[in-house]
Parts: sequence; structure tokens; C-alpha cells
Amino acid sequence: MNGFLDYVRSLPKAELHLHIEGTLEPAMLMNLAEKHQVNLPYLTAADVERAYNFEDLQSFLDLYYLGASVLIDEDDFYSLMIRYLERCRDEGIVHTEMMFDPQTHTERGIDFSVFMSGFGRAMEDAKRQWGQSSLLIMCFLRHLPEESAFETLKAAEPFKSQISSVGLDSSELGHPPEKFERVYAAAGQQGYRLVAHAGEEGPPTYIVEALDRLKVERIDHGVRCMEDAELVGRLVKAQIPLTVCPLSNVRLCVFGTMADHPIRHMLKRGLNVTVNSDDPPYFGGYLLDNFQALHRELGLTMEDARQLAINSIRSSFIDEASSAAWLDQLSVPTP
Ligand code: HPA
Ligand code: ZN
Repeated sequence: MNGFLDYVRSLPKAELHLHIEGTLEPAMLMNLAEKHQVNLPYLTAADVERAYNFEDLQSFLDLYYLGASVLIDEDDFYSLMIRYLERCRDEGIVHTEMMFDPQTHTERGIDFSVFMSGFGRAMEDAKRQWGQSSLLIMCFLRHLPEESAFETLKAAEPFKSQISSVGLDSSELGHPPEKFERVYAAAGQQGYRLVAHAGEEGPPTYIVEALDRLKVERIDHGVRCMEDAELVGRLVKAQIPLTVCPLSNVRLCVFGTMADHPIRHMLKRGLNVTVNSDDPPYFGGYLLDNFQALHRELGLTMEDARQLAINSIRSSFIDEASSAAWLDQLSVPTP
């Protein structure tokens, strides 16, 4: 019996920062490698887990793209998605906004139609079977040129009704938001909602650029804002959502230990913070594991958890009526 965890599970929550390719479990990775005869530098799932020992974002990304290389047919994308959505059902994540990386697949000759139909079929099954609400965020890989992002935006046109938003991920340092200003403007004109990773490893100026040049509504990570008091003031005033991923931040050495994570200071300062899992098997846990680590190592309270759940629903792109209904459930004070 764990009172804190049971309470957090019971809260209706939205997860807003989750890479679907980053939900690939070591066992599934090994099964798919065998199915498709993909050569990997691992013999067992335990070898995979041992390799998940990162020193920075790039050392993770290298293994994340290697892992994604086993995703090949429509069923692979279906299985990946349905497993994560089942996890949402079991953790009280009533709504999720999942990022996917088309270029990781199209560069290997896998067409949009393959992954979009696998994802779409799983999302429909989860909706029909237990009412799971979910949206997709299409991310551009920032280490690739602007031209490739434009090609991706074009290739997505036939699937536009399945995609809510555009995001930006991969290697942050050396690839400032400015590089994608034009493609974001085009995506915005096409009606996509806009988000971007900024201020994970990159400096606070990348957060400013994402807001001013890319015109994003939400910042993914954003933790390095704490180095710039003026920026913090702006983020508080505008209540810009920050999709913080605590286990990810520690595993990628953005902070030394969980005890050094600034999330409670961020909450106290009035920032619109949410908690998310990013790439769960790579970073040692799903959403409830993130809450548990914050509770154990930072003293996160039930009341903090309720505030974080409220922030997640408020910051989501869910429809107004559903948002109001979830917020009503969350208005009950902590026991
Ligand atoms: N940062 C940047 N790119 C990513 C991440 C992340 O945390 N996860 C998957 N791609
Ligand atoms: Zn991320």
C-alpha cells in the first residue's frame, strides 16, 4: 500500500511530453530485432538495459535512434503505441499528447502511411475500448537541415487530420530554434499547434527564441529558465506551460541527482510546470515513477501532485468540455 502513489494514480492527469519511439521496452526491441533480422550490439534485453547509462543528451540519442531501427512494419508501430496507451489507462493518464519523429523512419525508407496507420489504429482501439484520449505531435529533428523539416511538413499533408501539433527535438546544442523559424511559420499557417524542446541542454536564450521566433505555446523541458530571472518572470506572467521530465533530466545529467532538481522551486515561483516521462524505459520510469521519485527524493506532497495534475490538464490541447470536466474532478482538496 502506497498512499502517495495511489493518490497520484487516482488523479486525472495529462501527459504532454512523451516520445512514442522512446517507449520501446528492451524486450520488445530484442523481439523486433529478431523478427526483422536487425543486427544490434546486444544479445539480451539485459545488455540493452546495461547500455542505458548516459552522460548527456547525445549519448542517449545515439541509442534511441539505434533502438528505433527495429520499427519497420505497421504492426510494430501499432504494438508500440497500444502498449503505451495501456500504460496510460493503468496510471490514470486520461489524456496524452505523444511526440513522434517521422524523419527517423522516412530516412530508413519507411513511409508515413506505415507508421501513421499503426499509430492511428492503436489510438482508435484505445479510444473505443476504454475512452483513452490522445493526440499526436509531429517533431522535426533539429540536427537535420531546415529543408528536411519542410519535406516532412509536406509529406504529412495527407495525414494532417491525425496530427494536432508540431514540435522540435533531438540534439539541442548548436541547433537553435532560429534554424526552424520559417518551417514553424508555415506549420502555424496550416493550423498546427506549436511546441518545441528548449532549455534542456540549451541555454535560456533558446527558450526566448522558441517563444519569440517559433511562436510556440508550450516549452518542452525549459528547466534552464531558472538561470535567467527575467525569463522566469515572463514565463510566470504568461503562464507558459513547461513540460518537465525529472527522471530524464537526472539520467541525462542536466542535474546531478533528483535532490538537485529545481521542480519544487519552479512550482513555488508560480511557473506552470507539468511532470512527464519523456522516454520511459530509457530513463528508468513511466509517469508514476517520476512522481514517486519526486516524492521520495524531493518531498513532493500530495497537494503539489494535485497542482501538477491541474497544470497538465490546463496546459493540454484537449477540448474545452473535457478539460472542464477533469478540472472539476481535480478541484476536490487533497485528503
Ligand atoms: N530531448 C531531445 N530529443 C529527444 C528527447 C529529449 O528529451 N527524447 C527523444 N528525443
Ligand atoms: Zn523530449
